[in-house]
Amino acid sequence: MFIHCELIILSLALALDGRVHSARIIGGHEAVPHSRPYMAIVMGKGGKIHCGGFLLNKNFVMTAAHCQDKSYEVLLGVHNIQKINDAQRVSVEQAFPHEGFNKSTYENDIMLLKVRKTALQGITIAIFVIYHFGFSTCYCKCFIYAIFFSLIFYCFLFFIPLSGLKLSSEANFTQNVKPIALAERKGDCLPKSCLITGWGRTSANDRYMSDVLREVNVTLIKDERCESENLYCSTGNKGTGQGDSGGPLVCEDGKAYGVVSHTYQAKDGQLFYSYAKIPDHKSWIYLTIKNA
Ligand SMILES: *[C@@H]1O[C@H](CO)[C@@H](O)[C@H](O)[C@H]1NC(C)=O
Ligand SMILES: *[C@@H]1O[C@H](CO)[C@@H](O)[C@H](O)[C@H]1NC(C)=O
Ligand SMILES: *[C@@H]1O[C@H](CO)[C@@H](O)[C@H](O)[C@H]1NC(C)=O
Repeated sequence: MFIHCELIILSLALALDGRVHSARIIGGHEAVPHSRPYMAIVMGKGGKIHCGGFLLNKNFVMTAAHCQDKSYEVLLGVHNIQKINDAQRVSVEQAFPHEGFNKSTYENDIMLLKVRKTALQGITIAIFVIYHFGFSTCYCKCFIYAIFFSLIFYCFLFFIPLSGLKLSSEANFTQNVKPIALAERKGDCLPKSCLITGWGRTSANDRYMSDVLREVNVTLIKDERCESENLYCSTGNKGTGQGDSGGPLVCEDGKAYGVVSHTYQAKDGQLFYSYAKIPDHKSWIYLTIKNA
């Protein structure tokens, strides 16, 4: 279980000021297949596996802002990444990284992905309309006009599969694909019995991510820096690794409290795993979904 692969580079660059992105995995075990039906794999441009994420509703997936890429594809209902035939594959219409995300401090490391409803339906309908309009109004007079649009239409249909474009749609809820609720703000108490899940690396020497979804329980700690940066933090010998970024921190009532963000090494060498605090971002999340 590990954070975003590209962060290895960042860890070297950023190690000097004390902020590192750990490359050790830490405890954890394989999750019961499909017991975390909200889990998503967020792939960047080119299908390279990228980050974790979680499903909020039929149209939105939440992940970390540092998982930003030029385009995305999301897989739902996956347990083993070698066996994704039954997975739901959705493409992303628009990404909403938090406007306050700071690449050097990782503040506001939260992003919403809006699922593309029907990628090419609009264009298909438009061409259909023009095609039939061409036929009915011009009938014989503009026979060439009609043939022209027929040709365009059939070329279009022919090239959809060749171009790799797929008509994708919003997520369907099934036994293996379900949304997770977000936690509300609740006093100063830290949530208890929290769990993180992901396909991230399980050791520093691993070149690849874990094939199967893994999970580990973590205990949140009180820490001034974490509190001031709207983070939940955990420490100890269990935590997230490269590839786990963007996954959820799920606590006591089964709701999502945080987004796996980064690890941080204090001056005394203690390693902190940090999670963007969802209750602190509730109004941003609500407004972004409402205005999307
Ligand atoms: C959801 O179900 C519809 C109808 O069966 C299907 O066309 C669509 O592709 C499904 N969506 C995904 C993401 O698999
Ligand atoms: C990010 O945070 C650093 C340190 O607080 C600050 O100097 C910098 O201006 C911030 N960058 C942005 C884009 O806000
Ligand atoms: C781990 O966390 C999950 C989610 O909150 C909880 O249901 C489970 O009881 C925890 N397990 C342990 C051993 O604490």
